[in-house]
Amino acid sequence: MHLAQLRLRDFRNYQRLDLRFGSGFHLLLGNNAQGKTNVLESVYLLATLRSFRGVGPAQMIRHGSPGFFVGAEVVGHHGCLIRYYWSMKERRLSVDQEPVRRLSDYLGLVRAVVFCTEDLQLIKGSPRFRRRFMDLLLAQTEPAYLHALQQYVKVLRSRNALLKAPRWDQATLEAYTHSLLNYGNQIMEARYRLVPKLLPLAQQAYRRISGDDEGLECAYAPAVREDFQQELARLASRERQFKTTLLGPHRDELQWSLKGRSVSEFGSEGQKRSVVIAMKMAQAELLTQHAGTPPILLIDDVMGELDQKRRSGLLPLLDRSHHAGGQVFMTCTEENWPRELGRRLNRWIVREGTVNPSSPH
Ligand SMILES: Nc1ncnc2c1ncn2[C@@H]1O[C@H](COP(=O)(O)OP(=O)(O)OP(=O)(O)O)[C@@H](O)[C@H]1O
Ligand SMILES: [Mg+2]
Repeated sequence: MHLAQLRLRDFRNYQRLDLRFGSGFHLLLGNNAQGKTNVLESVYLLATLRSFRGVGPAQMIRHGSPGFFVGAEVVGHHGCLIRYYWSMKERRLSVDQEPVRRLSDYLGLVRAVVFCTEDLQLIKGSPRFRRRFMDLLLAQTEPAYLHALQQYVKVLRSRNALLKAPRWDQATLEAYTHSLLNYGNQIMEARYRLVPKLLPLAQQAYRRISGDDEGLECAYAPAVREDFQQELARLASRERQFKTTLLGPHRDELQWSLKGRSVSEFGSEGQKRSVVIAMKMAQAELLTQHAGTPPILLIDDVMGELDQKRRSGLLPLLDRSHHAGGQVFMTCTEENWPRELGRRLNRWIVREGTVNPSSPH
């Protein structure tokens, strides 16, 4: 699967951009603040309908414009034309001219994995980032997961609103609790299934980037210990006191450790960075296994920040993607990276919201 065309209108600093791409490596070269990351952000947006910068859609509208448009032609098993328009007043998402009704029909059409500086939050940030990592991966590999997650979030919100209300009836609370348990259990089961698939891939990736797996482990740590229903029932009076749902997968954690010690608490900066890259490489491998073709890899700047050893650890992933007809977009301010990558590189010069091909030399 790859993007054959990308069209941007009033997206970030792009008033109008129309690009055609083949599969393979694409290097976006340019000085700071020219629009390199913005291109990657638009591709990631097509894949997930989110920004990897952790901001909402409003920030992606070009200053002074009412809304942005991102369009793409996807080539592969499920080739299609995607059009996405977003403004404060209107959202339109269509595939082959048909409006998308359910998110679950859409996610998975474009699969992308991003490597960016914000990734460090996966280790340094709150558990929310690690839950989102599991959620995105499961949404893209297990068809029923997204539905369960959406329903869980909905019922959790309703249940919390009810607990905050001055008066409520027991029957409504019980109905919400029933749904919460049902969807919550589905989410936890899927997360339990994910970890044994993810860990060996992350260990292998970690070994590649640091030469040794250093006893990398990851453990799913659900907030629920054994029985969601019983444990939640025991919290009934405390829930009334705190006016919120105190237990469930919205409080889960995914713990990463090296030689038995928490990476976030005891890891060095280099170890944290390696774990994060290993997580992303594992994500890319898992998506490849699942779909049979590699996801689009979006690599933002991180190459420049990595030492020689870690960079060469990433090479096999890029090579495999290349051999399988995948697509890689990389941003760079200096040309220190492409030489090791060698052959067949498409280079683009990004300058003040324009992107133009540059002839290789
Ligand atoms: N909503 C917006 N409307 C207009 N311009 C924007 C918007 N958001 C960001 N920009 C501008 O986009 C420009 C390019 O941003 P981008 O992050 O893509 O740069 P970059 O080429 O990746 O730079 P760096 O090498 O520093 O990472 C910046 O000048 C920024 O001010
Ligand atoms: Mg950038």
